[in-house]
Amino acid sequence: MATAGSPPANRREIHVLADRPSLIEACATRILAVGRAAILLRGSFHLALAGGNTPRELYQRLAAHDYASHLDWDRVHLYFGDERGVPPDHRDSNYRMVRESLLDHIPIPAGNVHRIAAEQPPERAAELYAGELARHAPASPHGPALDLVLLGLGPDGHVASLFPHTAALEERERSVVAVNVEQLQSWRITLTFPVLENAAHLLLLVSGAEKAPVVAQALSSQIPPPLPVQRLRPRGEVEWFMDVDAASAWQGGRP
Ligand code: 6PG
Repeated sequence: MATAGSPPANRREIHVLADRPSLIEACATRILAVGRAAILLRGSFHLALAGGNTPRELYQRLAAHDYASHLDWDRVHLYFGDERGVPPDHRDSNYRMVRESLLDHIPIPAGNVHRIAAEQPPERAAELYAGELARHAPASPHGPALDLVLLGLGPDGHVASLFPHTAALEERERSVVAVNVEQLQSWRITLTFPVLENAAHLLLLVSGAEKAPVVAQALSSQIPPPLPVQRLRPRGEVEWFMDVDAASAWQGGRP
């Protein structure tokens, strides 16, 4: 039974792995499988990457020969779920983290990497990125149709940079917005709910005991207001990949 604020359970799979290495392995295997199927079926794989800390190890794993050699990178297009309002060489830049952990190690054509130009003023960066999505991502009646969007989960239930109490949560027209995140005293540029919801696959990667409370609330709570992650109404498949620490407060949280 789906809880309030979560997609119908029949379209949601939850994987709980014993530890972080097996979590990273399972996630990398899934992404590779979805990517190879997309390339086989439609000739390309359009993947939006998450920022933050958790996915760095995943990207390093995907860059390793036993994974990277099984994807035709000429047919892969990489996007970003969100970006901090900083230049691409800044220590907080998601692009920098992805370049160091993945891009510098794979033969992906530069034109296939669709960076958010966060060195621009925030609203301009959002406009430019929306144009990049419109030009390169597959189109659909519901807007850009990415094959897979990888998301992390913040302790406050944010995904991408869709933070609680921000106007970005209400955006249903534009594919990308700039958001001034007061709780962080910083600007972010983020994909909006319509793009996340239109992806064929949403994959949430959550690790560590510090995320246990938000995971339990996201998967089991019906107490309003819903967390940003609970406001997602995905059309496609949703898969949660967690380790036992992150799932430890959720009632189904044992592998
Ligand atoms: C970002 C991310 C953000 C992140 C979560 C979880 O730019 O920080 O896009 O949504 O995924 O905050 O971050 P951790 O993986 O570092 O816990």
